[in-house]
Amino acid sequence: TYVVTDNCIKCKYMDCVEVCPVDCFYEGENMLVIHPDECIDCGVCEPECPADAIKPDTDGGLDKWLQVNAEYADKWPNIATKKDAPADAKQFDGEEGKFEKYFS
Ligand code: SF4
Ligand code: F3S
Repeated sequence: TYVVTDNCIKCKYMDCVEVCPVDCFYEGENMLVIHPDECIDCGVCEPECPADAIKPDTDGGLDKWLQVNAEYADKWPNIATKKDAPADAKQFDGEEGKFEKYFS
C-alpha cells in the first residue's frame, strides 16, 4: 500500500484524489489518508503530490503512518473529487512536527 505522511497536514493539496483509480482517499480536516485495503499499489498518486507526502510502504520506517492511515481511513469520509487546497497551504509545506501540532 501507499501511505500519506506528515507533510500532507495543513497542505492538503488533493491532487492525489484526482488521479487515484480506486478512490481510496479519506478526508480529515487537515489531512488525507489512504485506505490500506483498497489501495491497489498503482503508484500514480506519489509523483502528483506537490508536498511529496505520499510514500510506498516498501520505503520502510513508516510504521506510524501505516497505523494512522489504517485507523483514520475507517473513521473519515471518502473523498473522490478534488477540492481546492487551503489558501495558506504553502506556508505549512515542509514544517516539522505537523502531526503533533495540527493533526485532525
Ligand atoms: Fe490510489 Fe494508486 Fe495511490 Fe493507491 S497508489 S492511493 S491506488 S493512486
Ligand atoms: Fe496531501 Fe499531497 Fe494529497 S498534500 S492531499 S497527499 S496531494
